[in-house]
Amino acid sequence: MRKIVIAGNWKMYKTQREASEFLQKFLPELEQTPEEREVILCAPFTDLGVMSKSLHGSRVQLGAQNVHWEDEGAYTGEISGFMLLEIGVRYVIVGHSERRQYFGETDETVNLRLKAVQRHGLTPILCVGESKQQRDAGETERIISTQLQKDLVDIDQQNLIIAYEPIWAIGTGDTCEAMEANRVIGVIRSQLQNRDVSIQYGGSVKPNLIDELMAQPEIDGVLVGGASLDPAGFARIVNYK
Ligand code: 13P
Repeated sequence: MRKIVIAGNWKMYKTQREASEFLQKFLPELEQTPEEREVILCAPFTDLGVMSKSLHGSRVQLGAQNVHWEDEGAYTGEISGFMLLEIGVRYVIVGHSERRQYFGETDETVNLRLKAVQRHGLTPILCVGESKQQRDAGETERIISTQLQKDLVDIDQQNLIIAYEPIWAIGTGDTCEAMEANRVIGVIRSQLQNRDVSIQYGGSVKPNLIDELMAQPEIDGVLVGGASLDPAGFARIVNYK
């Protein structure tokens, strides 16, 4: 059975105080949320400690947005899996297109990070997706296949979430059509050894689009940027119909 996974990616938004204010409004909205939906907030590193305390006993799981592949060492500015584990993080986003684009992330480093996440017993959310230029050139499937092939070398597909995030849809308001997202996610699934991996869609997911997206048979959840910053809006997404 594929798990439904609804995750917020806060990117570089929210101080600890803002995170606490968010949770005060957001958590009461989850009382009616069906049990089987996994709800995750992937927050900046500085928020994780305080959020871990507030989320204790709640149904929301904590996620980080990156991790280094070594357990410790002289890597200024990096965070290890041990550090995340100690504060109660359960999920880690790996290979987000913003990290690939702005911070030199490659399929090789994505693979190393995925391995580190799994070695620590955490669950990675691997992001893949094509740019506008690649889509227009008809290269969507090829780009995604290459990413999957390289990123997933020696990765345990029993402990993995994938997010299909077309780069042209991220932060642009230009959401991928639900049927097209469904199609590409089907292509991704066809390339996996474990067909039961939960595969999310991400890219300008908004409360008014969530019901249609989640009605698609291949879409197992969403990875939400901007719309996860607002407690009422993200609650509506989590409580899709
Ligand atoms: P937006 O929802 O803001 O487009 O961001 C999507 C995303 O990058 C989630 O990881």
